[in-house]
Amino acid sequence: MYQPAITGHGVFTPSQSISNDELVVAFNAYADRWNATHSEAIDAGTVDAMAHSSSEFIFNASGIERRYVMDKAGVLDPDRMYPQLPGREDGVPGIMAEMGLDAANKALGMAGLAGTDIDLVICAASNHERAYPAIAIEIQNLLGADGFAFDMNVACSSATFGIQAAADMVRSGSVRRALVICPEICSGHLEWRDRDCHFIFGDVATAVVIQRDEEANGPHFTIQSTSCATKFSNNIRNNHGFLRKAHDQMDDRRDMQFMQNGRKVFKEVLPMVSAHILSHMSDTGWDAGDLRRLWLHQANKTMNDFIGKKVLGRVPEAGEQPNILQDYANTSSAGSIIAFSQNSDDLQVGDRGVICSFGAGYSVGSVLVERA
Ligand code: COA
Repeated sequence: MYQPAITGHGVFTPSQSISNDELVVAFNAYADRWNATHSEAIDAGTVDAMAHSSSEFIFNASGIERRYVMDKAGVLDPDRMYPQLPGREDGVPGIMAEMGLDAANKALGMAGLAGTDIDLVICAASNHERAYPAIAIEIQNLLGADGFAFDMNVACSSATFGIQAAADMVRSGSVRRALVICPEICSGHLEWRDRDCHFIFGDVATAVVIQRDEEANGPHFTIQSTSCATKFSNNIRNNHGFLRKAHDQMDDRRDMQFMQNGRKVFKEVLPMVSAHILSHMSDTGWDAGDLRRLWLHQANKTMNDFIGKKVLGRVPEAGEQPNILQDYANTSSAGSIIAFSQNSDDLQVGDRGVICSFGAGYSVGSVLVERA
């Protein structure tokens, strides 16, 4: 058995960003137009008018201040309210592969490795732009890597589930150097015309290199333990799928985009995540005093504050539980990895932390790491 370690990490951040104010202006313009179009039904009381969104609500309810997107113009166009990302010819790299490759190259640079050193690529994301061939195999090809590659989807928990899969293979010796890549174009499955959720998501890509501890070229994090759990729930759901045409559901239906019962998610996922981290630490012989940092899934600031307090048994001190959601919003599987990538270099040898993601499924994954 080999000791697996995270030896490199990288983040691709899109060049375009949308502030809450910009988002709200576009949404409210859309709502006004919709209300004007449906004024007769609204006046007759058969249809509810669309209410305005507000930056104040968004910040207070979520902690989000802005989000990066691959196409700002399409999202902010009240006649469209959706990103415009032109389809690409089969012969050129797809957009998810391009984003993932950027993050992968940054992670490889940090690990001191080349693409040809990799023998496993996992593309772990909450959506994939096509059914097949796998995005991971496309990235493997662009990297010039041998070995094998596959896509996987556990929604917001995809990164930690992917890390567990890769770490287990490195541990057993079936692969030597793996990349777990999370390209997330959440703007493509968010319903920008629904004020309950239009502020939630952003786009990004992350990558981590996992290899044998003994082969690390610089400072790194050993993966001490991983733990994943799932429990079925319909409270976060997206019905878009390959049977859509067979179901005669090609119309513009709300349930073909991200849907959630936010309050229930909040109430049900919080205890699940806190208990998961605590029992994972206890099973590994760690206690709260061992933790120097929590890199949590980035959905909601209040949620993270609650989990941090529950796990540490006290209010986390500044920097112990870093959030990036104020700048990136919820980037699904990538969130905890952005937090890790941007807030881990200062840890000292022997310092311990937990990467934890959670979301649809429900699903929760935790990775216990130690600076080496
Ligand atoms: N602007 C202004 N008001 C808004 C609004 C907006 N954009 N969106 C909703 N509201 C209103 C609602 O209509 C509601 O009004 P009412 O009380 O008159 O009915 C009120 O604000 C509260 O809405 P609610 O949806 O209950 O807000 P919330 O406090 O639960 O916050 C979330 C919403 C989504 C931020 C929160 O539930 C959450 O983060 N949940 C967990 C999300 C999560 O982790 N999801 C995982 C996704 S992968």
